[in-house]
Amino acid sequence: MPTLAEHLNSQNVPDRLSALLGDITDCCQDIAALLRHGPMNDILGLAGAENVQGEDQKKLDVISNDMLKDALAKSGLVKGIASEEEEHCVGSSKDGDFLVLFDPLDGSSNIDINSLVGTIFSVYAAPDKDNIADADFLRPGHEQVAAGYVLYGPSVMLTLTTGQGTQMYMLEQSRGEFLLFDDKVQIPVDTKEFAINASNQRHWAAPMQTYIADLLKGETGPREKNFNMRWVAAMVGDVHRVLSRGGIFTYPWDKKNPNKAGKLRLMYEANPMGFLVEQAGGKAFTDTIRILDVAPDNIHQRVPVILGSAHEVDICVAYHKT
Ligand code: AHG
Ligand code: MN
Ligand code: MN
Repeated sequence: MPTLAEHLNSQNVPDRLSALLGDITDCCQDIAALLRHGPMNDILGLAGAENVQGEDQKKLDVISNDMLKDALAKSGLVKGIASEEEEHCVGSSKDGDFLVLFDPLDGSSNIDINSLVGTIFSVYAAPDKDNIADADFLRPGHEQVAAGYVLYGPSVMLTLTTGQGTQMYMLEQSRGEFLLFDDKVQIPVDTKEFAINASNQRHWAAPMQTYIADLLKGETGPREKNFNMRWVAAMVGDVHRVLSRGGIFTYPWDKKNPNKAGKLRLMYEANPMGFLVEQAGGKAFTDTIRILDVAPDNIHQRVPVILGSAHEVDICVAYHKT
């Protein structure tokens, strides 16, 4: 099985992008090592601060953010970074070729129960200027040059796209290398599995209420088949399942806070996952438009997310258009 570097080389991925992906995924190996010994290192629990979005930061949110920031600063390939855990973008190497956005630890409420978490990242070409500002990051997802996540599960897995399909790699611990595991991830177009936080049901908009109610009616309802439900409570885990065997994952708008467009963040959750899903033959929409075509207005902007098996996403989006 080829290593990550070997496979990127076989795809003619430019050397500097390949080096950047190597640096990001090396850092994720260090995060994985830290997580393996989490309880022994006193790194579980709260950091005692909130991030810019008013969410309690876990110690590991802060530690993994610092590790990625340091690794990208050292790489010399990155002009600026933006992160869930940083209010504004952070400038890095003036002659860096790339802008990188990341969610250093997705699903951090899972940490304390030893369940799935991951790191999500999104890469753009850097603009030709010295001083980077938040506005330089506000580009639609279809301009991403690479996107991926590392899932810290029973196996540590990397899922990556540079626009040539979606590939999965598995960490071979003894060699410290990600080895190619699936060179053409393909999401089945139809599915019988959905993922949504059903505790918010009473808050959803009418189209989502109707769509989920129709799924739950099973074979005697309008969909004429029985659906199963799964919810990892970490987008990385739910999207990994969708990429592995199909399904639909949604985190819709809800009226708990009508000013919030959704829970998930466009730039470092929805866009990279949207790129991976599309490159695997799936679809990724807000409730009405393609996620990768959303013109961002803020690096921490939130969007509704509906992604996964192409036919099922079409059906769900159709409920929102009628
Ligand atoms: P994060 O830990 O980076 O803040 O993201 C958590 C997100 C996402 O991973 C997941 O799909 C969702 O929050 C789950 O939230 P709830 O369980 O609160 O609905
Ligand atoms: Mn997240
Ligand atoms: Mn996070």
